[in-house]
Amino acid sequence: MEIQLWKEILDPYELAVKELTVKFNHLIQEHRSQGLYSPIEQVHGRVKTISSILDKAQKKNIRIEEIEEKLEDIAGIRIICQFVEDIEKVVEIIRNRTDMVVKSEKDYVTHTKKSGYRSYHMIIYYEVQTLGGGKKIQAEIQIRTLAMNFWSTIEHSLQYKYKGSIPEHIRTRLTNASDAILLLDNEMSSVRGEIMDAQNSFQIQANLVSDILNNIQNLYRLANKREIIRIQDEFYRIYKTNDIEQLRRFHRQLDVIAEGYRAQSNEHRYEENL
Ligand code: GTP
Ligand code: MG
Repeated sequence: MEIQLWKEILDPYELAVKELTVKFNHLIQEHRSQGLYSPIEQVHGRVKTISSILDKAQKKNIRIEEIEEKLEDIAGIRIICQFVEDIEKVVEIIRNRTDMVVKSEKDYVTHTKKSGYRSYHMIIYYEVQTLGGGKKIQAEIQIRTLAMNFWSTIEHSLQYKYKGSIPEHIRTRLTNASDAILLLDNEMSSVRGEIMDAQNSFQIQANLVSDILNNIQNLYRLANKREIIRIQDEFYRIYKTNDIEQLRRFHRQLDVIAEGYRAQSNEHRYEENL
């Protein structure tokens, strides 16, 4: 097939990967801006290269015309989580979305592959809008922990190096490493609550500080400069105490002050209009 035709075929997949990456990254943002723990840590996406499409088609005896139907991973998304428990949360989020329709799922998290590979796979249908109208394509979403990702990245490189037939002694090492990864994920799960608390309070503090600074900036237009400097000094003093409760109280006080100024300035505007 000509390169130009390949470009036309792959174009909607490029769009899908971009859109899906934006959507999953947005989910991270949404969790964080609401002060919630995000089950998604990182998102990566890629479109399969023409040469690996051809390789795979040949290996699986797939004709060129059948490629889009039978190769389910032309568009690939990888979602990386911190903890094993996060994987099912992400799976649930995907199942509940109306813009992604689940075609099939494979649970290699509880059913480790013989190689030692662990990950949760979902094949979804996803519609993109093109010049020619809507086009429904398939995408493979792999959901795994940071530790599982570490293992599969290394194993994948070795498969590549040994062209698929990794020597037995290295295989054994990889199987051992996979067992260690399982232990590591379990150990991490046992301190999950504490890690989440620490990350959450960091996020909550960041959101509070950003709200407070926004409020102070808005007050610049309304309050007199001396008052602003007093408020700012007070903020720095509280910030240094590292006490989130004090920050919360200060945030509420600032809201009340800002409300007072807003009411005053509305009165002014009202009087000017009389
Ligand atoms: P493919 O022919 O690769 O599509 O296999 P499949 O249709 O049986 O699907 P499967 O869910 O087993 O694998 C899909 C993808 O998961 C692969 O393309 C890899 O990216 C990844 N994967 C599966 N098994 C392994 C493994 O043993 N090691 C690594 N590193 N990745 C794997
Ligand atoms: Mg596959």
